Amino acid sequence: MDKIERIKLLTAELNKYNYQYYVCDNPQISDYEFDMLLKELESLEKETGHIEPDSPSHRVGGQITKQFENAKHIFPMLSLSNAYSEGEINDFLTRCLKFGNDNLDLVCEPKYDGVAISLVYKNGILDKAITRGDGVYGDVVTANVKTIKSIPLKLIGDDFPSLFEFRGEIILPFSSFDKINQERTENGNPPFANARNAASGTLKLQDSAEVASRELDCMLYSIMSEEEIAETHFETMQKAKKWGFKINDFIKKCSSIDDVMQYLKKWEGKRNNLPFAIDGAVIKVNNFKLQEEMGYTAKSPRWAIAFKYKAESVITKILSIDYQVGRTGIITPVANLEPVQIAGTTVKRATLHNADIISQLDLHYDDFVHVEKGGEIIPKITKVETELRETNAKKVEFISNCPECNTPLQQNDGEVAWFCPNEENCPPQIKGKIEHFISKKAMNIDSLGEGTIELLFDKNLIKNPADLYFLKPEQIIGLEKIIIDKNSGKERVIRLQEKSTENLFNGIENSKKTPFEKVLFALGIKHVGETIAANIANHVKSMDNLMSMGIDELTQINDVGITIAESIVKWVNSENNIKTINRLKEAGIQFEIKEQNIQSNKLDGLTFVISGVFSSPERREELKKIIIQNGGKVSSSVSSKTNFLLAGENVGPSKRAAAEANSVKIIDENTFISMINQ
Ligand code: IVH
Repeated sequence: MDKIERIKLLTAELNKYNYQYYVCDNPQISDYEFDMLLKELESLEKETGHIEPDSPSHRVGGQITKQFENAKHIFPMLSLSNAYSEGEINDFLTRCLKFGNDNLDLVCEPKYDGVAISLVYKNGILDKAITRGDGVYGDVVTANVKTIKSIPLKLIGDDFPSLFEFRGEIILPFSSFDKINQERTENGNPPFANARNAASGTLKLQDSAEVASRELDCMLYSIMSEEEIAETHFETMQKAKKWGFKINDFIKKCSSIDDVMQYLKKWEGKRNNLPFAIDGAVIKVNNFKLQEEMGYTAKSPRWAIAFKYKAESVITKILSIDYQVGRTGIITPVANLEPVQIAGTTVKRATLHNADIISQLDLHYDDFVHVEKGGEIIPKITKVETELRETNAKKVEFISNCPECNTPLQQNDGEVAWFCPNEENCPPQIKGKIEHFISKKAMNIDSLGEGTIELLFDKNLIKNPADLYFLKPEQIIGLEKIIIDKNSGKERVIRLQEKSTENLFNGIENSKKTPFEKVLFALGIKHVGETIAANIANHVKSMDNLMSMGIDELTQINDVGITIAESIVKWVNSENNIKTINRLKEAGIQFEIKEQNIQSNKLDGLTFVISGVFSSPERREELKKIIIQNGGKVSSSVSSKTNFLLAGENVGPSKRAAAEANSVKIIDENTFISMINQ
C-alpha cells in the first residue's frame, strides 16, 4: 500500500473511531491505540504533504488565525421570541391549533445557553463554520470548530443535500468552565462571568490548539437547505443522525398542550443537574409546510417560541455595602456577599440600585438575602429572609456624603438617585468623564485605557478631557503605577514605555478627526446619548450655535424634550465646561458639521424608514448617511409621517404592513440612488 492510500485508510478509520466515541458514546479502541494511529497519520501527512479534507489531525488544532474572515450566511440567522409565562405559551399553542386545524404537531427541545453557530456542508464535507455575527454576516471560525470532535468533518452516506447549513449552539460544559476559570485566576486574568462567555471567548481564540484543549461541544437544532430533506423537523433531525451528526434524545414530539407543559416542567427541574447550561425550552411547529404558512416577524419565526426559565435564586449573607460613584456623580450601592454558586458561577457582589431599594427591602447588616442572576444581568437581591435576622441587627442607612470627596449628596425632585454635586473635583467623576470621552463610540482613543487614565490622573497630569491634548511625551515616558484589577482583585503594573507612549499620542492625534456628532456625545452631557447627540449635531451644525440656544429652541429638535434641553443649557453655561470647549477647540477638535457633509437638499422634508437586509451592515449605515447629507430624515418606525420605506431583502412583515396601511411608498436601493442622482 502506498503512503497516500495509507493516509486515506487511517483518516477513514480514525474518523470512524471518533464517531463511535463522541457521537455514539461507544468507544471501540483504547485512547492509546487511537493516539498511535493518529501519530502515524500525522507523520505521513507531514512527509507527503497530503492531507484529506476530513483529516482528524485538524481536530488537534495548530492553525493560527490572525484575523477572522467575514462571511455571509446563506440564510439570515434569526432569533426566537421569548415567553416567560404559561399564558404566553397558551397563546402560542392556540395560534398553532388554529393553523393546524385543531391538531398539534410540535417538537420540544432544550434551549441551550451557548453561542450560535452555522456549519456549512458542501458535498458532505464541513466547509465553513460561521458565528452568528449580526445575523447576516458572521466570523469564519472553521479551524476552531473543527476541534469539536462530535462535529463530523465528512458525512456518512449520500442522501444529504449538496449544500446545507446546520445551526446549533456551541457550549462549554461546567466542568471545563470551572477548569478554565481556575487557570485564568491563577494567571492573573479575570475569570469569565458564565459558561456562555467562556464558550464565546474560546471560539474566538487565535490558536486552534488552545481551543482543542478546552472541550467545547455542539448541540445541533436546525438544518437550512434549498433542497427538501423531509416533511418535518423531527424526521430531518433523525436523518441527520444517520449522516453522523450527534443528535441527542432531548428532542421530543408533542401532540397536546399537556405534553408541552409536561416537557417544560420536566426540563425546568432537570436544568440544575445537567452538565451544561440551558436557559429554557424551545417549542417548534414540526411540519415545514405549516411553518411556512405561519411565517416570520422581522426578527423571529412565528412557528417557534422559547420558554425562558426563571433565574435561579440562592440565599447568602450580606458582608458589607460599598457605594460607587459614577461619571455623572450618581451613587450606586453594591452589596458584598458571602460567595455563592449561582447558575454555574461564583457570585460575590450584587447591585442594590439605589436608596429606595434598600429601604423597600428594609435591609439590615448581616441579613440573609435571596440573590438572582439571569444571563448577562448583574446579580440582584430580590428578598430578605427576615426570620434569620439577629435581633440587634443594624439597619442599613444610605450614606449622606460622597464616599470619595465627602461632599453632601443631593437628590433631584422626582428622581430616586442620590448624586455627588462636586462634578469638577470628585475623582471618580473626573476619571469616569475622561473614560467616557475616549470610549469607542465617542473619540475612540483605544491606546488609552482605564489604568492609564488612573495613572495620569494620579500624577496630576489630566483633570479633564482637554488636558489629553496638551500632554508632552517627556511628562509621561517612564511613569508607572500598580493597580488592582477590579475582577480578579490581583495587582497589575501599568508602565508607560516609549512604544506605548508613541501609540498613545498617535491615538490622541487621530481623535482630532472625530466628527462633531461624536464629539458632542463624548462631552458626556447628562441625557445626551449617541443618537440624540447625532440629531442635535445635524440640526445645530456647530457647537457655537448650540451654546447660544435656549430651551424653547432646543425642544424643536427631533427627540429633544424639556429634560434634555435643560441639561444642555445647564452644561453649556458652566464656566468650567466653557473653558474645556475653548481648549478642545484650540487643540483642533471638530466642533462643526463639515460643510462637505451636506451634499444637496434633494430630500428636504422627506422622512425615510430603512428596513431589511442590505449587502452589508456598513451599506445600511451609508444609506442612512446619504439621506441625512441630502436633507432627509431617518426614522425607526413607519407612520403617516413617513414618505418612503427604503427596503432591502426580507423586509419585516410588520414594517411592510404599516407602509401599506399608511400608503407609504416602498422603494429599493436602486430607485433610491436614482432619486439622489437625478
Ligand atoms: S431554533 C430562527 N432551537 O437561541 C431561530 N435555537 O434567540 C431558530 N437556541 O439564535 C433557532 N437552543 O442560538 C433553536 N433548541 C434550540 C435552541 C436555539 C438554543 C438559541 C439559538 C437562537 C437563540 C434564540
